[in-house]
Amino acid sequence: MSSVNLQGEIEVQPMKNNRFEGWRIYRSGARCGFIKFTIITERVFKNYATIEFLIPKPMRGRHIGRIALKKAIDRSIHKKFHARVRKTNIPSFKALTAVGFRVHSDKRQYEMIYKKP
Ligand SMILES: CC(C)(COP(=O)(O)OP(=O)(O)OC[C@H]1O[C@@H](n2cnc3c(N)ncnc32)[C@H](O)[C@@H]1OP(=O)(O)O)[C@@H](O)C(=O)NCCC(=O)NCCS
Repeated sequence: MSSVNLQGEIEVQPMKNNRFEGWRIYRSGARCGFIKFTIITERVFKNYATIEFLIPKPMRGRHIGRIALKKAIDRSIHKKFHARVRKTNIPSFKALTAVGFRVHSDKRQYEMIYKKP
């Protein structure tokens, strides 16, 4: 399935929230999931924004998550991003890799990071 054609249909809009930076995902105006960036204080990833993102099941398989994540990162105030991914979560690993994340370490889970150019 091609994701290129969807680029123009996917939009992210900031959530009203002051605990974390959140983005609602829309496809052609219809809500389809969210992205959250929360600053972490763990020593290794100090000041990285850790990522949580979700696309409702019926909307998966179209690369909407990665298109939206890229758009949210581009608009985010944060510069350094982190994601903790279970080794069984292949869709998430693929989405993050497509956006440009690389594996920082892979002990129990993948610790993945991305820095804006
Ligand atoms: C992670 C997530 C946002 C990614 O969304 P997305 O970019 O739209 O991803 P898609 O569903 O279009 O595609 C995922 C890829 O995994 C593949 N995939 C899906 N299920 C799979 C499975 N069970 N085994 C192997 N591969 C699988 C798809 O074929 C696709 O491969 P491709 O990149 O080669 O085309 C979405 O899968 C999701 O909401 N998952 C549940 C929540 C979650 O785990 N969030 C991440 C942790 S916070």
